[in-house]
Amino acid sequence: MSRYIKLGVNIDHVATLRNARGGKDPLLLQVALAVEDAGADSITMHLREDRRHIRDEDLFMLSPHLRTSINLEISASNEMVNVAGKLKPKSVCLVPERREEITTEGGLDVHNKIHKLMSFLGPIKQKNIRVSLFIEPSEKQIDAAKIIGADIIELHTGYFCDLYERKDGNYMEALKVLEKAASYAYKLGLEVHAGHGLTTASAGFVSKIPEMKELNIGHAIISDSIFMGLRGAVQL
Ligand code: PXP
Repeated sequence: MSRYIKLGVNIDHVATLRNARGGKDPLLLQVALAVEDAGADSITMHLREDRRHIRDEDLFMLSPHLRTSINLEISASNEMVNVAGKLKPKSVCLVPERREEITTEGGLDVHNKIHKLMSFLGPIKQKNIRVSLFIEPSEKQIDAAKIIGADIIELHTGYFCDLYERKDGNYMEALKVLEKAASYAYKLGLEVHAGHGLTTASAGFVSKIPEMKELNIGHAIISDSIFMGLRGAVQL
């Protein structure tokens, strides 16, 4: 019997497309509702410090209309923790953020920032929001996530996906590292999610990890949707 793995769909890329023309289209709400209709379990949105795609008003406009829930990705900063406190999404995923990066490049260094991160986790958890930490698949980072009271860890799959897409045979080793990390975290009582760079093919491997509860996918789904819909759009 196959296990049900939850899917969070990241719609940041749709906001990027909208912002390119400075208008309202494509309407983020319509996209989020279509994603829900298609069976997604949550809508993931990353409110970046430079607001390059999702904006504050997107979050507050969408939130009351969703049947599912928002998984809000934010950096660990007072400004972002305040937004989370007002929005009260079901879960918040803390991610590292650098202005110059194109996308989130690595996991959060929880191990070396235990005290700093603890101060951000407390106020979020007080609002009954579940906290996830986006980390590399390393026992050191998982131990630190447990110590600071995270509910969930989201394992960064970027390295595995990169090897897999480049057809580098070492991808199986990278998959084993993810498997080991998932099992270790699960035994510590942490819920295990994964994301970054996943495609239909690579998600197939990660979803078979027994402890995996949820995958968060953005770029590949939005990219695939172009090919699923382009013919119809041209022929309208
Ligand atoms: N999970 C986290 C924590 C992320 O930061 C991102 C990228 O914003 C994703 C998942 C989705 O990654 P992708 O767009 O490559 O599927």
